Amino acid sequence: MRGPHNIIRLIRTGATLERTGAMKVVLDAFDAGPLLRITFRALVWPFRWLGYQGDIAMPPAPRALTALGPAYIKFGQLLSTRPDVVGDELAVQLRVLQDKLPPFSMKEAKIQIQRELGLSFDQLFTSFSEPVAAASLAQVHKAHLADTGEAVAVKILRPGIERAFRKDIDAFYFAARAIEVLSPASRRLRPMEVITHFEGVVMGELDLRLESAAAAEFAANTEGDAGFQVPQIRWHLSSRRVMTLDWAEGTNIGINDALDAAGHDRRALATRVLQLFLNHALRDGYFHGDMHQGNLKVAANGDIIAYDFGIMGRIDEYTRRVYAEILFGFIRKDYNRVAEVHFEAGYVPADRDVDEFARALRAVGEPIFGMDASRISMARLLTYLFEVTERFGMETRTELILLQRTMVVVEGVARSLDPHMNIWQVAKPVVEDYIKESIGPKALLRDLAKTAQVLARFGPRLPRLAEDALIRLNNPPPEPKPQRRIARLSWMALGGVLVGGAWIITLL
Ligand SMILES: Nc1ncnc2c1ncn2[C@@H]1O[C@H](COP(=O)(O)OP(=O)(O)O)[C@@H](O)[C@H]1O
Ligand SMILES: [Mg+2]
Repeated sequence: MRGPHNIIRLIRTGATLERTGAMKVVLDAFDAGPLLRITFRALVWPFRWLGYQGDIAMPPAPRALTALGPAYIKFGQLLSTRPDVVGDELAVQLRVLQDKLPPFSMKEAKIQIQRELGLSFDQLFTSFSEPVAAASLAQVHKAHLADTGEAVAVKILRPGIERAFRKDIDAFYFAARAIEVLSPASRRLRPMEVITHFEGVVMGELDLRLESAAAAEFAANTEGDAGFQVPQIRWHLSSRRVMTLDWAEGTNIGINDALDAAGHDRRALATRVLQLFLNHALRDGYFHGDMHQGNLKVAANGDIIAYDFGIMGRIDEYTRRVYAEILFGFIRKDYNRVAEVHFEAGYVPADRDVDEFARALRAVGEPIFGMDASRISMARLLTYLFEVTERFGMETRTELILLQRTMVVVEGVARSLDPHMNIWQVAKPVVEDYIKESIGPKALLRDLAKTAQVLARFGPRLPRLAEDALIRLNNPPPEPKPQRRIARLSWMALGGVLVGGAWIITLL
């Protein structure tokens, strides 16, 4: 993690940012102070020639990241979902990052398969196509199984990609630490935490067994969803670096002419794609977090097919109920209730003013509901809502940001299918059904039954637990002796020195 090689890497990164004009964009986005600006630019300027030039047709930030390679492209894509970190302007710029790279060779692909699956290539497949898609982490081939003749999709990780990412991520950590040291103000944006989150996401995507598990869980949840398909995983032909799924053929959902030619009802598709997503988020608490047009197709029978389960979102049941109530409050324009829900859930600190918060929520809701039906957007409602709640002291939560970002994407897909769609009308029944199921009397009974079940499990131990509690109540333990102030301070000082020392050592 340490060492001069990271400095060299970062100089190349800095030089590329400088050469493409992205340095200023990045420093602006992070509100960098003068010390950081001067240090960075002075360090990098003499090495400018070392930087990549990139594709001059692109805007500066995506141009630099694309030139720097897969880890940077991925990092940029992640940051595009975090306007709370990089600001709105840079987030929008980064959204154009395309995850496409030249494929690796067929020979490499075959070697990977044999090594991973432990069987010779010819034993497994009778046909194996050139890659049908190639991105920064993996590429996909179409193949036919030797034993049954069925068509499958085989996704294979890029050779050496783990090591390449490891190196770049180490350099990112190094940079995050350097930024925290040079610009204490930047700590507000928690650069180290952003990198840790990135590492978690990417390392997850670099283990295809996790994607296979996600696909299987998603398929099980959505089995009963009419008009929706998730290709089945072939577990015996899947491993860490190779994933095999049933081949699922379809028309690209982003090409209206092709959909029309195939006789699909685009209005019905638009409604379905939005309702499916809402159901997955609310009903299952498990949703596809990357629902752009490249990951969706329409089967000949009209079913929507989803691919690519590298990024999934999970929302716990409590949060889902809270947000269902919040959305329901907005539907009824009951802004006081929406405000109260935030306070009850502890999302907004108790010392904030409820009435002022309710007024801010009205300012979110009214303009949106006053819009022409074809422009109403739930994603926009969530975006504005999160802006307001953040202003009132609510902590940013990555799963909700992913939800809101995906909602933006899904609404985009739906509107491209049916530009006149009334998103609110389509969404309303899903939200209302969920409310009825999750907050109404039926749900209360279900919760009580669950509680009773848990208590029943403790049944045999309850008398003992009660007795212990009563004994403890009657014999309170002695108060801990207050530590002398001076001793406490010296412990704190020693801790500080140790942590600081360790930090400096890792920095060197
Ligand atoms: N089971 C499948 N059947 C047919 N085509 C598939 C299947 N899985 C993937 N593909 C094709 O390969 C493309 C890339 O696969 P995807 O899983 O999205 O990879 P990446 O994570 O690199 O985006 C998809 O957009 C789709 O066109
Ligand atoms: Mg994809």
